This record gives sequence, C-alpha cells and structure tokens, in this order.
Amino acid sequence: MFKYVGDISSITHYIVSNFVDEKIIAIDATLGNGYDSDFLSDNFKKVYSFDIQKEAISNYKLKQKDNVELILDSHEYIEKYVTQQVNCVMFNLGFLPGGSKEITTLTDSTLKSLNASINLLSSGGIITIALYNGHNEGKKESSEVINFARNLDKKFFGVMHHKYLNRTNCPPELVVIEKK
Ligand SMILES: C[S@@+](CC[C@H](N)C(=O)[O-])C[C@H]1O[C@@H](n2cnc3c(N)ncnc32)[C@H](O)[C@@H]1O
Repeated sequence: MFKYVGDISSITHYIVSNFVDEKIIAIDATLGNGYDSDFLSDNFKKVYSFDIQKEAISNYKLKQKDNVELILDSHEYIEKYVTQQVNCVMFNLGFLPGGSKEITTLTDSTLKSLNASINLLSSGGIITIALYNGHNEGKKESSEVINFARNLDKKFFGVMHHKYLNRTNCPPELVVIEKK
C-alpha cells in the first residue's frame, strides 16, 4: 500500500486537516455516500451537505450527525442556503459509485457552484475538487474546472493540480484552491 499516492480522497482529507487553520464551517458540495461529509463533520463545527439525489440525503439522515445540515438541491444554489463565510468547500465530481451513471455533475452547474464557493470562501480557506475524466461529461467538466482555476487571480488565490502520472484507466485528479 502507498502512504501518500494511495487515493485522492485521503490526500484531500490530509490537505484540509493540515492546512485549513480555522475549522468552523464547511460545505460538502457532493454528499454521495457521505464519506467526505463524515470527515468534515468530525473536523468542522458545522457542515452543509448538498446532493440532488433523495437517496443520498435519506441515507445520510440515518447517521443523525447533529452538525450536518442536509440540502436536497443542486450545489449551484449554494448561496441560497449558506450566507456566511466558509473555511472549506469539497467537491467530489462525477457520479455516485454504485449508483446511476446517468446522474452526474455537469459542467455548467459545477462552474456556477465554484463561482459561488469562491465568493463564500474565507481568507485561509480551501476548496478541493476531485475530477473524473473517465466519461464524456467528466472530460469536459475537468477541462473547464482546470481552466476556471487557472484563471483565478494569483494575488488572492494559490492553485495546485495533483495528477497520477503512471496510472492507467483515467485516474482521478485533484485541484486545490487556497485563498490568501
Ligand atoms: C462522486 S459522488 C460524491 C461522493 C461523496 N463525496 C462521498 O464521499 O461518497 C457525486 C455526487 O454528486 C451528486 N451530484 C450530481 N450533481 C449534483 C449537483 N448539481 N448538486 C449537488 N450534488 C450533485 C451525485 O448525486 C452524487 O451523489
């Protein structure tokens, strides 16, 4: 087993644990099976978790996490539900593992949601975006997200792109945006 290059999710959690100083409010933009929300719930005082699938929301309700507010709506409407500054926004794009491949994140709403996240992000806050290139929409979405991140003003934002170089079958990639 690898310690560092094992999987994108562990790297993401490590980065957020170690480099977000103030862990007050976080957003999980893609709840799915809830692993990211579990991590955020354990580390932040309050978490807002979005998904468009009723099943994801109702499954997570069973866990009864007091500090997680579940929102059955698209993450493009984040600012309708969250008005205060947030310290972290986590995106795990694509479709639900084990669920319908028809229900996937889409370029247009992902970009709207990223713009909203940039508006809400506090100084010292971090946005993480796990990208999946294995399907057509994912390819388009990944390239637009990278383009979006690349064009953020370097006076205010630092951006990194993490990629596996020797894996086959379209491995996931990770983009990290940190606000000064
Ligand atoms: C790769 S999964 C997320 C995995 C999850 N973070 C976990 O820890 O299990 C992507 C999720 O995004 C959800 N999704 C797709 N479009 C969305 C949208 N516009 N707003 C919010 N969630 C969306 C899907 O329903 C799916 O559950």
